[in-house]
Amino acid sequence: MLAVTETVRARTAITYDVYVRSGCLYEVVDKIKALDPIRYVLLITDDNVYRLYARELSRRIARAGYHVLTFIFEPRRKKKSLETAKEIFRLLFSNHADRHTVILNVGGGTVGDLGGFVAALYLRGVRYIHLPTTLLSQADSGVGGKVNVNFGPHLNSLSVFHHPTAVWVDPNVLRTLPTREYVSGLAEIVKYAVILDADLFEMLEHNRDRVARPNNDLVEVLICRCLQRKCRIVSRDPQEKGPFRFFNYGHEIGHAVEVAYDYEHLLHGEAVSIGMMTASWMGREAHLTDYAVLERQGVLLSGLGLPLTIPANLRRGAIPTNLFRRIKRILDSDKKRTPKGTVWIVPTRLGEGICTTEIEPDLVRRSLRRLAEGVV
Ligand SMILES: NC(=O)c1ccc[n+]([C@@H]2O[C@H](COP(=O)([O-])OP(=O)(O)OC[C@H]3O[C@@H](n4cnc5c(N)ncnc54)[C@H](O)[C@@H]3O)[C@@H](O)[C@H]2O)c1
Ligand SMILES: [Zn+2]
Repeated sequence: MLAVTETVRARTAITYDVYVRSGCLYEVVDKIKALDPIRYVLLITDDNVYRLYARELSRRIARAGYHVLTFIFEPRRKKKSLETAKEIFRLLFSNHADRHTVILNVGGGTVGDLGGFVAALYLRGVRYIHLPTTLLSQADSGVGGKVNVNFGPHLNSLSVFHHPTAVWVDPNVLRTLPTREYVSGLAEIVKYAVILDADLFEMLEHNRDRVARPNNDLVEVLICRCLQRKCRIVSRDPQEKGPFRFFNYGHEIGHAVEVAYDYEHLLHGEAVSIGMMTASWMGREAHLTDYAVLERQGVLLSGLGLPLTIPANLRRGAIPTNLFRRIKRILDSDKKRTPKGTVWIVPTRLGEGICTTEIEPDLVRRSLRRLAEGVV
């Protein structure tokens, strides 16, 4: 069992600490003071997180003598766009913010991706600190330096690697997270377990009902476990050329259904859950995936409250053939597609997987048809 207070270290071109401790949120002010002289702190957040945490944080930073700019946007995933990034650039330029500005991203993956993207581009890159506030961003997206915005239906397609200066994880803030958002974050934890960590999978299986309930006493342990894995892999592969790609498990189809439903009707983790089931079904049909993986993964995901296929209420009214075509078209235009086709991450057995472009197009079509018809 891991200690719940952890500092793990990601070694990339730059090395940064990922600090995890309940109640640490406002202590980030000391971290800011420890950085080189800075004039501006730009705090990026959404309406909900501003009200709950970021307003108080901005007051404390101002009290410490910094000029605080605040950018608050509507908590909608569609806002992770170039248009919103432009508004932030405008705010920075109109305040003559220089290269010694530090950006604080206080929020979930939407805030983190958007704020990191702005930090990567502004004046050839300024420093930023992630303060992730959803389970998904604490256990996964806060680390890795992949920052991006969507371009219309092209999900995460304006994308760059820019690693944070620090990641500050306070699991206490998850207490206010809506249950559906909490459960969505669990999908990324299951992703780690299935593709990289069989022991974690067993731990989730044994404690399934406890883990499914928000505010349980295991959540910090789970976050630390995922972050340790991610830091180890990101340190070896900071540009996603090797094992970093395993974190895309479930995201090939997951991204396609997320876009098919316009970023609004399925949460990211819900889409990834559906994507993991589809990828492992294809793996099993291609004789790459142990039968037990598909079975046990399905029981765990549904027991945690995650969907295994596109929910009936979302399919209602859609002709399966049209839905199939739509998902296929999005999948075929994915930015990660190579000349050989989609790179699939497929589990082989629990805790292990492979990257392959060898899934037959006919098998992909069959799996998408099942999905469009809601077959589990
Ligand atoms: N860069 C990466 O490596 C990576 C990895 C996975 C996902 N992502 C991206 O992350 C995004 C999804 O992020 P998310 O799932 O964290 O959701 P989110 O950032 O969209 O936040 C979800 C909702 O929770 C609210 N919220 C956040 N923290 C809260 C708290 N502590 N208490 C109460 N409410 C809170 C927000 O206001 C919002 O309404 C997607 O855009 C996805 O593409 C990025
Ligand atoms: Zn994800």
